[in-house]
Amino acid sequence: MHEAVSRISVLASEQRRIQDLEWWSSETIAVVTGGNRGIGFEIVHQLALHGVTVVLTSRETAVGEEAAKFANVMYGLVNNAGVNFNIGKDNSVEFAEMVIQVNYFGTKNMIKALVPLMRPSPAGARIVSVTSRLGRLNSKQNGISNVTVRKQLEDVESLSEEVIDNTVNTFLEQVKEGTWESGGWPQVFTDYSLSKLAVNAYTRLMARIFEERPEGHKIYINCYCPGWVKTAMTGWAGHVLLKMQLDTACSLACLLPDRL
Ligand SMILES: NC(=O)c1ccc[n+]([C@@H]2O[C@H](COP(=O)([O-])OP(=O)(O)OC[C@H]3O[C@@H](n4cnc5c(N)ncnc54)[C@H](OP(=O)(O)O)[C@@H]3O)[C@@H](O)[C@H]2O)c1
Repeated sequence: MHEAVSRISVLASEQRRIQDLEWWSSETIAVVTGGNRGIGFEIVHQLALHGVTVVLTSRETAVGEEAAKFANVMYGLVNNAGVNFNIGKDNSVEFAEMVIQVNYFGTKNMIKALVPLMRPSPAGARIVSVTSRLGRLNSKQNGISNVTVRKQLEDVESLSEEVIDNTVNTFLEQVKEGTWESGGWPQVFTDYSLSKLAVNAYTRLMARIFEERPEGHKIYINCYCPGWVKTAMTGWAGHVLLKMQLDTACSLACLLPDRL
C-alpha cells in the first residue's frame, strides 16, 4: 500500500514535469499500436490527457492507411502491440514464429513504414517501444550464452539489421529442427525474451542511425520495460497496476531531449 501511494505521488510529479514543458499541440499526432486494450490503451489515454492527438490502432484497422492520413504531422510512434504464449514456468516455443513475427518484425516494420511520415520539428520526433527486461542484452540470468552472438548484439558500433535478423532466424530454424534447447538462447520465456532482445538491439541500432540526422529532423528512439503489469498478457497476475507504469512511456514520448 505504502509503495502504491509513493508511486502515485511520483507519477503526479512526473506528469507536472511533462506538462511544464509542453511543446506540442492538438495538431501533434502520435500512433499507438495495440491501443485497444492493456498497456496500449492506457498509453493512448495518457497521451490524450496531455493534449496530443492519438491514433489508436488495433489489428482490425489498416494501420498504414490510418497513419498515412496524418503524413507530415505525425510526431510519434508507440510500438506496444505484442504477444506471449508462455505461462508460469513453462517455456513453450510452440508459437515462436508468431511471437518473433509480431514482437520483433512487427515493431521493425512499423518503424520503417512510419519514419517517412514523421514531420521535421525542433523538438524532434519520437519512437517508444514497449519491451521487456527479459530481453536485456546484459542480463546474466537470461542472456544469450553463445558468446559470439552476444558480443555481436552488444557491440552497437558494428551492430546491423542483418545481425539481428540472422540471430532470430537462426533461433527459428533451430525451433523447426528441434535443436533450440542446446542453442544458448535465453532460459526463461525463450521465444518472447529473444523477440524483446531483438527489439532492444534494433532500438540501439536505430538510435545510432538517427543520431546522424540533421537538427530539426532528429528522431529520438527509446524502449522501456513496464514491469509485470496486470493485463490479459500476464493473466491479470502482474503486480503493477496499469496506471502506475505510464510515467516512463509518457516521459519518453513527451520530454524534450535534454530532459530524457
Ligand atoms: N503485461 C506485462 O507485464 C508486460 C511486461 C513487459 C512488456 N509488456 C509488453 O507490453 C505490450 C502490451 O502488453 P499488454 O500486457 O498490454 O498485453 P495485452 O493486454 O495482451 O495487449 C496486447 C495488444 O497487442 C495487440 N496484438 C497482439 N497481436 C497482434 C498482432 N498480430 N497485430 C497487431 N496487434 C496485435 C493486441 O490486440 P488484440 O486485442 O487484437 O489481441 C492488444 O492490443 C506488449 O508488447 C508486451 O510484450 C507487457
